[in-house]
Amino acid sequence: MTDADGAPAGRVLVVGGGQGIGRAIAAAYADRCTIWTRKSGVDAADEASLRDAYARLEDEHGTPYALIHTVGDFSEVPLLETSEHAYRHLFESNVTTALMTVQAVVPAMVASGRGRVVLFAAAGADRQRAVLRAPAYFAAKAALIQMGRSLALEVAAAGVTVNMVSPGLIDHPHSHRESQARMLEKVPVGRVGETDDVVAVVRYLLSAEASYVTGQVLTVDGGLQA
Ligand SMILES: NC(=O)c1ccc[n+]([C@@H]2O[C@H](COP(=O)([O-])OP(=O)(O)OC[C@H]3O[C@@H](n4cnc5c(N)ncnc54)[C@H](OP(=O)(O)O)[C@@H]3O)[C@@H](O)[C@H]2O)c1
Repeated sequence: MTDADGAPAGRVLVVGGGQGIGRAIAAAYADRCTIWTRKSGVDAADEASLRDAYARLEDEHGTPYALIHTVGDFSEVPLLETSEHAYRHLFESNVTTALMTVQAVVPAMVASGRGRVVLFAAAGADRQRAVLRAPAYFAAKAALIQMGRSLALEVAAAGVTVNMVSPGLIDHPHSHRESQARMLEKVPVGRVGETDDVVAVVRYLLSAEASYVTGQVLTVDGGLQA
């Protein structure tokens, strides 16, 4: 059975779905979505919290069809001014929470023989060149992409795909608007993105048609040159 988009039935778990891009994705799957955020009582940086939340989800709804991880704090500080605390936080928020969430959820997907995992990187993080604007953040996103590519191969034979979405400047009430205004001239399409621009790509990755797409980075940035 599939929905109107051709996505197979099953729960869609959005980690970080309380605001911004995650919230828009959750709204697109409102009839079958579970949201995990700290405000909703689940801390993706805490293994016990994830384990308890996953046990409840499995009890109530069974193994989810899709895991979308959108957690990932941003910071624009030069490397020489990045404190150890800020560095650790960026890697915890962008990389560790993704690994721990994947470890809590994906084994059941593998056992069930199907699943879709979508991790959120950032436009430019997979290019091998300097990123002056937010270097520690982009280092963390590059690590996330490499981890996601490896995971894709680990679980491919089990019918689980793993892909990364890299947004450019996406506007929402909590986005970094001052930074986006500064960068806008570098977007050939000439506008900031909307959350719906990203939701459309996630819909594709969850659709039945995307079953042969795995280990990829899909960039949604209007051609951003930065
Ligand atoms: N917006 C953009 O223009 C843009 C551009 C490039 C890349 N991205 C990436 O795209 C993703 C989504 O961006 P966004 O702007 O929508 O993010 P956002 O506004 O910062 O929202 C992040 C969500 O994650 C939750 N969260 C944070 N830490 C958590 C934790 N430890 N455990 C559970 N939930 C946690 C937050 O809720 P709580 O505070 O309640 O936990 C919130 O709902 C991020 O990975 C970001 O780096 C965004």
